[in-house]
Amino acid sequence: MQRLLIDTDPGVDDALALLMAYAHPETKVEALTVTAGNVGIEHTLRNALNLVELVGADTPVFAGARDPLVRPAEDAAFVHGNDGFGDIGLPSPTRAAEPEHAALAMVRLAQRYPGELTFVMLGPLTNLALALAIDPDLPKRVPRLVVMGGAVNGRGNVSRATSEFNVHFDPEAAAVVFEAWPQFELVDWEATLAHGIPFAELAGWLGADTDRARFYDAISRKTRDWMRRIRDLAHWHAADGLAMAVVLDPDAAELWETRAARIELDGGLTRGMTVVDWAERMGWRPQCRILMRYRLDRFADLIRAALR
Ligand code: BDR
Ligand code: CA
Repeated sequence: MQRLLIDTDPGVDDALALLMAYAHPETKVEALTVTAGNVGIEHTLRNALNLVELVGADTPVFAGARDPLVRPAEDAAFVHGNDGFGDIGLPSPTRAAEPEHAALAMVRLAQRYPGELTFVMLGPLTNLALALAIDPDLPKRVPRLVVMGGAVNGRGNVSRATSEFNVHFDPEAAAVVFEAWPQFELVDWEATLAHGIPFAELAGWLGADTDRARFYDAISRKTRDWMRRIRDLAHWHAADGLAMAVVLDPDAAELWETRAARIELDGGLTRGMTVVDWAERMGWRPQCRILMRYRLDRFADLIRAALR
């Protein structure tokens, strides 16, 4: 049984990743820690609680960072909807968040399950940077960290051309994590682009006669339209879903590259860029296992199972 702590800013692709985790028989979601990111924390928290209710789980949900560590950042409401779940008018959740802060919950749960938890980071890294400030020994107790973030060749997805959203939202937090964590797995935006799902295929799965498929069809409609019409894309790019696939079925990863990676904080044009030492010239510690290729059929299997 794999125990997960999932840090998330739901978010349409976060929702898919969460459904994938809840559908997986060998996995237990021990906690959801929530951050601002795609939209404000009042929405991401509400969305996380709604999703836990939908799947009928009793996972504790912890509210975390309201803002990035240093500078304010723009959200991604134009992709995910103003409420982060496609503005479909979901009812308010009946359950509430736990009183403890997300960063404190990370520290406490890592102590409660030493050597057992996988931390899955699906949003900006603010909560984890705060947890590391509280407990620098955290990596000793958390054997696996999987991060969705970065653009390893500088092909980003935000207004700064070279940056990816999660890192761009809170570059200082990402820098803290990239420097402090001895070894982690990175699923970046460019891997996401390389593992798109054809819209027609996705539409078939969303037509399943289940609560989860209906829910996901509804909350993802705006984002799918945006990708298809505005971005003119033929494929659905589910960044957080791919990261979760790596967590749940790591054997389907076909190619990794291990390199040093750091975050640019000062560049006038490149703040928030993920700087990867591809040619190994910098003498930096190669701490980052970068996903290069993942079996699309196995990714599709996990998505289908999530919508059943
Ligand atoms: C990441 O940014 C967010 O908009 C998505 O939820 C994902 O975590 C992709 O760059
Ligand atoms: Ca996310």
